[in-house]
Amino acid sequence: MPSETGATSIALTEVRRVYDAGARRVEALRGVTLTLRAGTATAIVGPSGSGKSTLLHICGALDRPTAGEVVVLGTNLTTASDATLTRFRRDHLGFIFQFFHLLPTLSALENVMLPARLARRGARAAETLATTLLARVGLADRVQHRPAQLSGGERQRVAIARALVLDPAIILADEPTGNLDRATGGQVLSLLFALAHERQRTVFIVTHDPEVARLCDRTVTLRDGQVAL
Ligand SMILES: Nc1ncnc2c1ncn2[C@@H]1O[C@H](COP(=O)(O)OP(=O)(O)O)[C@@H](O)[C@H]1O
Ligand SMILES: [Mg+2]
Repeated sequence: MPSETGATSIALTEVRRVYDAGARRVEALRGVTLTLRAGTATAIVGPSGSGKSTLLHICGALDRPTAGEVVVLGTNLTTASDATLTRFRRDHLGFIFQFFHLLPTLSALENVMLPARLARRGARAAETLATTLLARVGLADRVQHRPAQLSGGERQRVAIARALVLDPAIILADEPTGNLDRATGGQVLSLLFALAHERQRTVFIVTHDPEVARLCDRTVTLRDGQVAL
């Protein structure tokens, strides 16, 4: 069951983000207040340009708000140093992107091991973790393949395994099924939702697919940088 009582994992208060692109000033987020809870999968929907990716990046400590407050897992990201944000991302967040962002010269296994190695886990431990996760996403027989030798759905499952290798409390996904057919996309989502529910993780998915949004516990609609009521 979706939990309404899970601990607050992400709290945004009056978040604004203004891009100053030369003469053009873009107000991507115009006062967003939002709370997300552990154990819940939330979809963020809205037209192109409504601020979805900007919101996801701010929740994921990849970008800072121009004004307002962002507290994730009790850490105030608004005032944290760059070094703190880097460590915070590594320790607590998993990212999944539409275009996978896998390293082409590495095998599936090496791609999944990479965050664990960067976090200074030993090679054996990282390999064990990565192997287990690749099996969990149904790729036990693809561990030595490079991204170019995998289908789109397989690549996205590698990217999911990589996002999960350090067991993050929060998974942020920007159009994770945007390049997948519906059946494959459904499998990818089931995996993410199982994780949210079984392990009290917070899943935040940007999508413009209403079917994907329908499968989430909750939908937040953005319009012109504001939460639509
Ligand atoms: N780095 C940037 N510089 C200038 N404007 C940007 C930048 N990133 C996004 N924008 C603008 O901010 C608005 C919101 O963008 P975005 O968050 O990517 O929307 P969405 O993901 O909903 O399509 C858009 O008008 C976009 O053009
Ligand atoms: Mg976007």
